[in-house]
Amino acid sequence: MDKIKITGGNRLEGKIFISGAKNAALPLICASLLTKDTVTLTNMPLLSDIKSMNDLLEQLGTQIDCFDDFVDGHSTKTYSYRTQEATSLTAPYDYVRKMRASYYVLGPLLARYGEVQVSLPGGCAIGARPMDIHLSALEQMGAKVEIINGYINAKVKGKLKGCHITFHTASVGATCNIMMAATLAQGTTTIENAAKEPEISDLAELLTAMGAKVSGQGTSTITIEGVKELHGVAHKVIPDRIEAGSYAAAAAITRGKIELINAQTQTLQCPLQLLRDTGVKVSETANGILIDATNAKLSGQDIMTDYYPGFPTDLQAQFLALMLTADGASMVTETIWENRFMHVPELLRMGANINVHGHASAIVRGVKKLSGAQVMATDLRASFALVLAGLVAEGETTVNRVYHLDRGYERLEEKLKGVGAKIERISESDELAAE
Ligand code: EPZ
Repeated sequence: MDKIKITGGNRLEGKIFISGAKNAALPLICASLLTKDTVTLTNMPLLSDIKSMNDLLEQLGTQIDCFDDFVDGHSTKTYSYRTQEATSLTAPYDYVRKMRASYYVLGPLLARYGEVQVSLPGGCAIGARPMDIHLSALEQMGAKVEIINGYINAKVKGKLKGCHITFHTASVGATCNIMMAATLAQGTTTIENAAKEPEISDLAELLTAMGAKVSGQGTSTITIEGVKELHGVAHKVIPDRIEAGSYAAAAAITRGKIELINAQTQTLQCPLQLLRDTGVKVSETANGILIDATNAKLSGQDIMTDYYPGFPTDLQAQFLALMLTADGASMVTETIWENRFMHVPELLRMGANINVHGHASAIVRGVKKLSGAQVMATDLRASFALVLAGLVAEGETTVNRVYHLDRGYERLEEKLKGVGAKIERISESDELAAE
């Protein structure tokens, strides 16, 4: 398994290009299942999660083509998806266990074909991750849903029926799934307490361009008027706000200065304000956002995760790591996932001073120095927190299980090296050769 070796102590300075958003791209790929035409997605990030989703769609009968492309002078990928007719209506366990967002095929396949089987993903490192909201909403739309042998079997006679649905929690995944399902339903579907994340608005934009009638995205009430069919389009994926926030934390923790090219301030209001409160200069530039922590003396701040536009849970680990180098105490409270402090025991091994109280909160007290160590990544964002600590720790830090990072951070070492970090990937084959 690959590892990442970091020698801490370098101040980071320069520009980092922010890639297309993973969590926007995944439902967009599945939306292509709603039409027999070609859906082309540009500004796609090159990530293992995208590859996993592509593998699943190919297994369902989608023809996928990939092209090298350029966005604002930076190389990216363009993918085109064409599902003239699905050859399978099953998302098998082996695909879903690799990537739980595979459940995004549920809504589109059920809407188009009236039938689908998707393996239930089960829990993961950060929580139990139930799917009750997705399933209850589909039942309200007329589907018969059963769990058999670990699979969700959903069927509907004729078309799904539009209806008024109130989510008990503003779930991102359920909002995307039900929006997609409702585009081809009979009548109008209203989702109350819908998620408001920018990735939902990006999906609404794609669906609208495909001929769907969606309104209210970005608010907690989304309305979808069903149409007979959808058609192909080309769509540019929005920049990844979580990748941008992660590199903003890298600039701040190294007291560096990084311009995040293509990052959008409007999708990062809360984390950017937190950085300002901490003592970092944040400004909008013609091409993105400038994070300047040169000579900054950071003061600890409390962080509480919340649904968008609140502080994103997907930046909690990275900002907790940042607070390790701030003066004073910071209370970090996680409200979305029940087990999202897995990075803490690893940070403690690097000399951090953190007390976790139950599953929901942690008190971080700033320390004078961290020291490099061998650490173990447990999930995608926790892994980036360990990289951040490694960037400022004395000596060498080795982050094991790098496959977590490859799921969601495109060309991580290259981007960090480009702004002055001493970082390298040690592949398993390099290690074997050295033995
Ligand atoms: C998405 O997960 C993201 N994943 C997650 O990012 C992110 O942490 C999460 O939204 C919250 O922002 C993708 O977009 C692929 P939810 P999702 O359904 O959709 C409860 C990352 O690091 N819930 O919004 O699975 C659930 O337990 C990943 O990139 C139910 O109770 O999250 C949680 O407390 C990790 N029943 C809350 O809702 C349900 O049926 C939010 O979950 C569904 C969810």
